[in-house]
Amino acid sequence: MRVVHHATGIALALFVFATAHIAPSAADQPAPAQASPWSDAELKIIRSLSIGSLPALAPDPSNKVGDDARAASLGHRIFFDTRFSADDQVSCATCHLPAAAFTDGRKLGRGVGTAGRNTMTLLGAAYSPWFFWDGRKDSQWSQALGPLESDVEHGGTRTGFSQLIASDRAYRTAYEALFGDLPDLSDPSRFPLSAGPVEDESLHTAWRRMAAPDRDAVNRVFANIGKAVAAYQRLLLPGPSRFDQYAEAVVAGNSAAAEEIFTANEANGLRLFIGSGQCTRCHNGPLFTNNDFHNTGVPRWPSMPHDQGRIDGISAARADIFNCRGAYSDASADDCRELRFAKTEGPELVGAMKTPTLRSVSQTAPYMHAGQYATLAPVLEHYNRAPTAENGKSELEPLGLTQDDLNDLRDFLLTLDSPPAVESKYLSPPD
Ligand code: HEC
Ligand code: HEC
Repeated sequence: MRVVHHATGIALALFVFATAHIAPSAADQPAPAQASPWSDAELKIIRSLSIGSLPALAPDPSNKVGDDARAASLGHRIFFDTRFSADDQVSCATCHLPAAAFTDGRKLGRGVGTAGRNTMTLLGAAYSPWFFWDGRKDSQWSQALGPLESDVEHGGTRTGFSQLIASDRAYRTAYEALFGDLPDLSDPSRFPLSAGPVEDESLHTAWRRMAAPDRDAVNRVFANIGKAVAAYQRLLLPGPSRFDQYAEAVVAGNSAAAEEIFTANEANGLRLFIGSGQCTRCHNGPLFTNNDFHNTGVPRWPSMPHDQGRIDGISAARADIFNCRGAYSDASADDCRELRFAKTEGPELVGAMKTPTLRSVSQTAPYMHAGQYATLAPVLEHYNRAPTAENGKSELEPLGLTQDDLNDLRDFLLTLDSPPAVESKYLSPPD
């Protein structure tokens, strides 16, 4: 009898292990008698944070090829192609490394020069209405146009990129299947090999000298490049993490399974995260971001000027010819509510940055908009102390947590790691 019981015990343990770690059917099992350590209000928040609460990605009305697999395939190719740069060395993947949650481990992004900000993850970014730390772009396709012409990132020009699409047979075929015929760019007196409204004065002058309809034709090709790259990036989503397994178990009332998944420290970290740590004021929803802008008083590097953040970002987004309401957008004016109703002034926008996702946060170090903190420990100390902002006003208040609490918070944050939910072929360059 003992032996039989023992065997049943092992089978049961294996079963609990299996439901906790793999099967999504914990809810179907009778809950153990043990009382849940979480209140109903806490369970509601935990459920709202879990990946299961992530809705399907809504279409982007400004990008009619956003969900076209052919566009994603073209965008995939461009994303990894270093020919889209001034020195043939830089691609999007130079800074957005798939193996590092699409970040680069550097304080500041480095392409043909050094960027003024920290590289952001791309996982789940498609859910945001605003792009960059300051939200100066209102779509993922118009975002992609920024680094391509930045003199510190790809350092190229829109005329040059259009020429590349036209001269490479595979690109030309894929492009024309999606967007129709390319304009005839073969006359160098009308379409220089490189011209665009960029930092470099001679390239900018060459752009100004082009006839307005020719500039418009190039702008359209450039926008379409962005739309293809955005279609690819819309496939880059975070996968379920250990936290999500825990959330599923506690929401199903399966405390015994939950205890197998989280240590007591991790569970306490979660309690602090949604409770006295006040993290869910901003890091909420299944992507752990409200996609809004906040001043949290992160100090600048002494060698760098004050970063004005959202106050400059929103005026740039409104002035951008590639925004939702512009001539290159596929949206109707009605679709552009985010842009229309965005707050454009107010002291709270000064120095405000986009709340980053915390999914796979162990891989996005160094942290903050200019990589100010190398590890999570100083990030958490920052929140605990809530220093006065040097620019604008910080929304944080000191938390008064103990060192043990901060360690638990860190342990919890590390449970948000997961392999991306991305088809593996999209995690490396195409053949
Ligand atoms: C030199 C490094 C570098 C290169 C090359 C680069 N990026 Fe970035 N990326 C960054 C940095 C730095 C930021 C944040 C910049 C800012 O806020 O001003 C960023 C931000 C982003 C964001 C915003 C994410 C969000 O949540 O708002 C997206 C999307 C993105 N990059 C996609 C791309 C694509 C697509 C390419 C290629 C066309 C590309 N990047 C090329 C460094 C780079
Ligand atoms: C008032 C809104 C707000 C609150 C509250 C808040 N955060 Fe943040 N969080 C942000 C913003 C905004 C940034 C980016 C700030 C910057 O770069 O200057 C950020 C950045 C971070 C980062 C860096 C992520 C990365 O990839 O760079 C971590 C980690 C983080 N927060 C964790 C927490 C934790 C843990 C708490 C609770 C103790 C918390 N946050 C509370 C808004 C907030």
